[in-house]
Amino acid sequence: MLNKKSVEDINVEGKKVLLRCDFNVPLDIETKSKITNDKRIIESMKTINYLINHNARIILCSHIGKTKEKLSLKPVAERLSDLLEKDVKLLEEIIGDNVKAYIDQMKDGDVVLLENVRMFPEEEACDEEFAKSLASLADIYVNDAFGTCHRAHASTYGVAKYLPAVSGFLIQKELDALDKSINNPIRPFVAILGGSKVSSKIAVITALLDKVDTVIIGGGMTYTFVKALGGNIGKSICEDDKLDVAIEILKKAKEKNVEFVLPTDSVVADDFSNDANTMIVDTNNIPNEYEGVDIGPETIEKCREIIKNAGTVVWNGPVGVFEFDNFAKGTKKIAEFLAESNAVSIIGGGDSAAAVEKFGLADKMNHVSTGGGASLEFMEGKELPGIVALQDK
Ligand code: 3PG
Repeated sequence: MLNKKSVEDINVEGKKVLLRCDFNVPLDIETKSKITNDKRIIESMKTINYLINHNARIILCSHIGKTKEKLSLKPVAERLSDLLEKDVKLLEEIIGDNVKAYIDQMKDGDVVLLENVRMFPEEEACDEEFAKSLASLADIYVNDAFGTCHRAHASTYGVAKYLPAVSGFLIQKELDALDKSINNPIRPFVAILGGSKVSSKIAVITALLDKVDTVIIGGGMTYTFVKALGGNIGKSICEDDKLDVAIEILKKAKEKNVEFVLPTDSVVADDFSNDANTMIVDTNNIPNEYEGVDIGPETIEKCREIIKNAGTVVWNGPVGVFEFDNFAKGTKKIAEFLAESNAVSIIGGGDSAAAVEKFGLADKMNHVSTGGGASLEFMEGKELPGIVALQDK
């Protein structure tokens, strides 16, 4: 997967380059017109600037939101224009004669942005004709949309069949960081895996058990493990159909000699709201009317020790309901311990990236991935279609 050609391995001078980025940035809830976090745009700048400096004609393309939302990339075009200090026009169409005519009059170093590719259902269907039409706009295809590489869509996968296809700098940076930490870690190698469901993390826990020295489990999935082991979890979230899977995972950890850390104490609440009544209890004895919402102080202390002595820590998924300030302490502490520690810290995208950003600690991490699903699938050991489609070196 790492042996792919990059934008530096191909001559882009004077060429029309279709650059697929992941500009799927969060927008404000009310107007859907203001970007609330531009990390993905900022992280794409290195490749865009490289192409500008090498006199390519840059046709940017991305999705934003889900197909049914039909969101516009207009706020992204505006942000790009600010960052590049030049006009980045947003073309309302994505394929067709008008788009071609516009591209034909572009000059070296010009940048244009096509409207949200998910305006077309053909994008997610990876429709051949649509992919061909997209490819016909350009001479070269560069994929830098790491966050979307786990999707075999027309603009991330289909198009690569019809053009010389190489990676951008962000994809290289992501793969380097994730690959090094997972396949060649400084030990002890610790994985902190949170989130609400065991079902969405089975594959990553199972894959990482072959590689890590310690796994720390947090978040809602804790309680499926605790129930499987016979504890009382009150009304905590639990996947009753995954109790046997939880037992299998625990068995595998034992076989592999992996230290498997489940929270020994929890913050529990009598309601799923920030102002609920809370108390700290033994995770195995949660009162019937309460649910687990965060790890407790004893568990936080255990995490501190483990992180302090770690060589590499990969973190995917918050350990509590960090969106509520009163249940964010455990997740915040983990972020702080990572910020202070000498361990290589790798933050999977999605919620854990949002958490370190919320606490203002993203800069203190070695790598914060721009890909939620993509980094998770990479850690599961899966091949990412958007990478597979690129030319080998
Ligand atoms: C993401 O936000 O993880 C990527 O942009 C992919 O988006 P998707 O989950 O809507 O395909």
